[in-house]
Amino acid sequence: MGFSEILAGMDSKIRPLMNILPPAYMVKVYSRGRKTFLKSLVKDIPAETVQIPEEKRQTLWETRFGNGLMNAAGMFKTGEGYLLAVRQGAGAYLAGTTTAIPRSGNVKSGVEHPFLPMPGSGAALNWMGLPNPGHAALAKKLSLIGRKKNCPLGASVSSDPEQSGKEAMQALVEGMKLYDKAGICFIELNESCPNVPHEHGSEFTSDGLDKSLVDRLEYIKENFLDNRPRLLPVIIKFSNDTAAEQIPALLDLMLDMGFDGVNFGNTSINYSGYESRIVQGEKKNFGYFTSEFGGGLSGRPLKDISLELASMTVKYIQSKELNREFNVIRTGGIETARDIAESEQAGIKLNQWFTGYFDSFAKYGHNLYKKIYSDERD
Ligand SMILES: Cc1cc2nc3c(=O)[nH]c(=O)nc-3n(C[C@H](O)[C@H](O)[C@H](O)COP(=O)(O)O)c2cc1C
Repeated sequence: MGFSEILAGMDSKIRPLMNILPPAYMVKVYSRGRKTFLKSLVKDIPAETVQIPEEKRQTLWETRFGNGLMNAAGMFKTGEGYLLAVRQGAGAYLAGTTTAIPRSGNVKSGVEHPFLPMPGSGAALNWMGLPNPGHAALAKKLSLIGRKKNCPLGASVSSDPEQSGKEAMQALVEGMKLYDKAGICFIELNESCPNVPHEHGSEFTSDGLDKSLVDRLEYIKENFLDNRPRLLPVIIKFSNDTAAEQIPALLDLMLDMGFDGVNFGNTSINYSGYESRIVQGEKKNFGYFTSEFGGGLSGRPLKDISLELASMTVKYIQSKELNREFNVIRTGGIETARDIAESEQAGIKLNQWFTGYFDSFAKYGHNLYKKIYSDERD
């Protein structure tokens, strides 16, 4: 058993008892502990690749994915952990999110990158603020990674919160070009981080879409998608707070612009809507974190909405009878074989996990992907 497996197992036993600590102390301990644990995890690479059933392999956008489950953005922000993902049997690997200018992320009340686990609710809150080394540094690092079969490498990018207008769009596309040169297999455009300021125009289109989003996607089409030297799929990740009524307009826009897939989605800021899904003993910490930092809610409370939004999207895409490939990714509350089975039944081919990954790692260690796919067959 590796050091990180021992650490995660011990922590999962202590964590529920930590709720008796003052919330501010709990946030301090876990914001720091999360980073220390990640550093140890990415070094703790299993000697052999855990085998996932071959029938789970799938070809999407002409690329072989080992299976339909991979890490969500933000887990490997600096491009660490590719070999770990390969050996654990992940279906793919996603680095980032990066921005044009490197960011150090949020600090408040003496806490850097505030994070709060709520293990009893299968949930977490974070207010990281997109700390990252920037597109150029991560693209360079990814270009040097030795690729393995069945684990395609992707990068998550975002428009820089410090820039606006044309400058921001230009820098985003420059970043996408650097990733293209680095030879990665897909790009995920993060349009949904709740923890950084966003450039929202007060203007809306007749479909009710944010005009600055429409402008950005048009710019990416004209300056990147239309003259891609190779098929480098670009997926857009929206929030799990996206209104279901907006899905047709969002998808029509994405299809018109030539994007290749969509991900529902990112963390939620609908605190009052999800408070009932936080167990009684964790409500105090939930209240403290959301009033002190705000932040995005992740994990089990998002399970139903991510399925609903991604399923609606699949149905809408099927009704369009497209002559090109467009895939739907589900992220939010993925933790068990049943979640993957429900996605498969709804025609969702790819899933990402973050909160559930760490809970599963504490229980099953490096066999966490195998556990999902062996339970699915039972
Ligand atoms: C600590 C933390 C950091 C995150 N960082 C990012 C990020 O950099 N980019 C992004 O698109 N999503 C980020 N997310 C959101 C996740 O990718 C995912 O969309 C969300 O957590 C819902 O999935 P889950 O329920 O499996 O956790 C982050 C989530 C957490 C918990």
